[in-house]
Amino acid sequence: MCGIVGYIGKKNAIKVALEGIKRLEYRGYDSSGIVGFHSDLSHPFLKKSVGKIASLEEKLSSIPNASCAIAHTRWATHGEPTVANAHPHHCCNKRIFVVHNGIIENHEFLKGVLSREGHKFISATDTEVLAHLIERGLGLGSLEDTVRDALRHVTGTFGIAVIDSQNPHVLVAARRGSPLLVGVGNDEYFVASDAAAVVNHTKKVIYLNDNEMVVLTPDGFDIFDFSKKKLNKTIDTIDWDIEESKKGGFEHFMQKEIFEAPQVVKNTIGGRIVYKDGEVKLGGLEPVEERLYNVNRFVIVACGTSYYAALVGKYLFEEYARVPVEVEHASEFRYHSLPLDKNTAVIAISQSGETADTLEAIKEAKRKGLLTLGIVNVVGSTIAREVHAGVYNHAGPEIAVASTKAFISQLVVLALMAVYIGRMRLLTSEQAKVILADMLALPDKIVKILKQDAQIKAMAGRYKKFPNFLYLGRKYSWPVALEGALKLKEISYVHAEGYPAGEMKHGPIAVIDKDFPSVVIALRDSVYDKTLSNMQEIKARRGKIIAICENGDKETGNHADDVIFVPKVTEAISPILSVIPLQLFAYHMAIARGADVDKPRNLAKSVTVE
Ligand code: M6R
Repeated sequence: MCGIVGYIGKKNAIKVALEGIKRLEYRGYDSSGIVGFHSDLSHPFLKKSVGKIASLEEKLSSIPNASCAIAHTRWATHGEPTVANAHPHHCCNKRIFVVHNGIIENHEFLKGVLSREGHKFISATDTEVLAHLIERGLGLGSLEDTVRDALRHVTGTFGIAVIDSQNPHVLVAARRGSPLLVGVGNDEYFVASDAAAVVNHTKKVIYLNDNEMVVLTPDGFDIFDFSKKKLNKTIDTIDWDIEESKKGGFEHFMQKEIFEAPQVVKNTIGGRIVYKDGEVKLGGLEPVEERLYNVNRFVIVACGTSYYAALVGKYLFEEYARVPVEVEHASEFRYHSLPLDKNTAVIAISQSGETADTLEAIKEAKRKGLLTLGIVNVVGSTIAREVHAGVYNHAGPEIAVASTKAFISQLVVLALMAVYIGRMRLLTSEQAKVILADMLALPDKIVKILKQDAQIKAMAGRYKKFPNFLYLGRKYSWPVALEGALKLKEISYVHAEGYPAGEMKHGPIAVIDKDFPSVVIALRDSVYDKTLSNMQEIKARRGKIIAICENGDKETGNHADDVIFVPKVTEAISPILSVIPLQLFAYHMAIARGADVDKPRNLAKSVTVE
């Protein structure tokens, strides 16, 4: 939610910051803005716009030279997307400018106090109080001291960047609860919500922790905690390239990311399967291996697509590791009295590693003294750093708001972990080898599914007019049905519900008629016969069916209107294949309905508010 970028250095700061927020647009895109200074400029250069960043760019036909700038792309929480509510926000005399990602929870109270003192507010945002709070302290110390002091009055979350038009050689940034990193270049320095904003300039980054701040000048940077203690932090190196965050010839990021699936599976598996021994190596879990032997129950917390991956994880862990698993919506984890003991481990699954609900669930688990593990894609993200140990997805940057390749990689990691933990218990090397062999064969099988893209596109053309869909699957295919329905909803705005196929007769069947199609995952697995019965029940009510069937299955298609085939594979990893046609179907439905695939309305990639 919201992306911020700040730059100080020899390049034109406005251009660099603008380019930076363009790479963060996936974090929010309802409005944007930028402000820049230079000692030669008599006034700060401030521009804001409603809508996607392209509309801000249109307003920037002539960009003055600037040595320091901050920029913001917004996903509205407080106040509608308007120019007045777009960031940067400024104080009364337009001296202090602030961009902010997060929520100032006590903003109403602070606004009241500041208004009574004479400060004039011009937006409906929570952020504006920061600019006035900082203004109020001016003259009592450096900008850094003033920002630090202002933040003492604030409750809530923030990643902020602040500049002062009377001191254009300093940029101050701070974080609590919202991601922020420092980019270290050659005589140029950056702050940003995400490495994507800086990777084309530098691969050297420092991840700020909560209650830390950085002071950037053209000559260098200093990092402090909020008690003014100077910190010596490690510089990390980003291990991916700018090319990975471009569309690479595809129409949309979502399409590119679906087509990356074969390589993603290879990358996620890479070096982790020792097939001859029927073993899995997960270096990230080695530090907690001893504790893992004693775990007698897992709770997996996650949101959205990652939550659906977690549901597959439950089946996998219970089948292969013989450990009971509960899956919790991360946003609900803290609200009920789940009995937990010291042998329960909590696993967080998160592509971004920044989802506030998931992060808070993990913090709660840590407070309770539990072992916490992460399955995270973004290296160095907050959740990755918060958990005791974990496994990275290695899916590369996922830019499209609709998660596709990250889901695939989460399923691969979960399968690897199920075998890893299973081998600590009863799973034999021979049993492990069966699933591991099939995992190694996945990339080629995915290629075969992707070859049906044109057929799926044509199918979307035939179904684009239907406003409602039911997605059904049993056992391992149930979370796939849920994920297929979510994909369709979020990018094409078509109503879709995912259900365990067996639940259909307990209510949803009432909606079935000739205008309410169903998508059924009907693989030749351990629950095939029962799923087939459900298809017959739909057909008896004249419902249309799109079936996901296994290659070579000549029968199931007779009960469907349209069929997409996927190769046969061990049931436990079948979701990795069966979800791909559903991702492609959602993609083509969205295109056919004229929706903006990569930037669906009302959504943002990284949800850093609770
Ligand atoms: O980054 P995370 O995996 O923690 O994100 C969780 C959800 O916000 C995310 O999966 C969301 O549901 C996506 N839009 C799904 O496509």
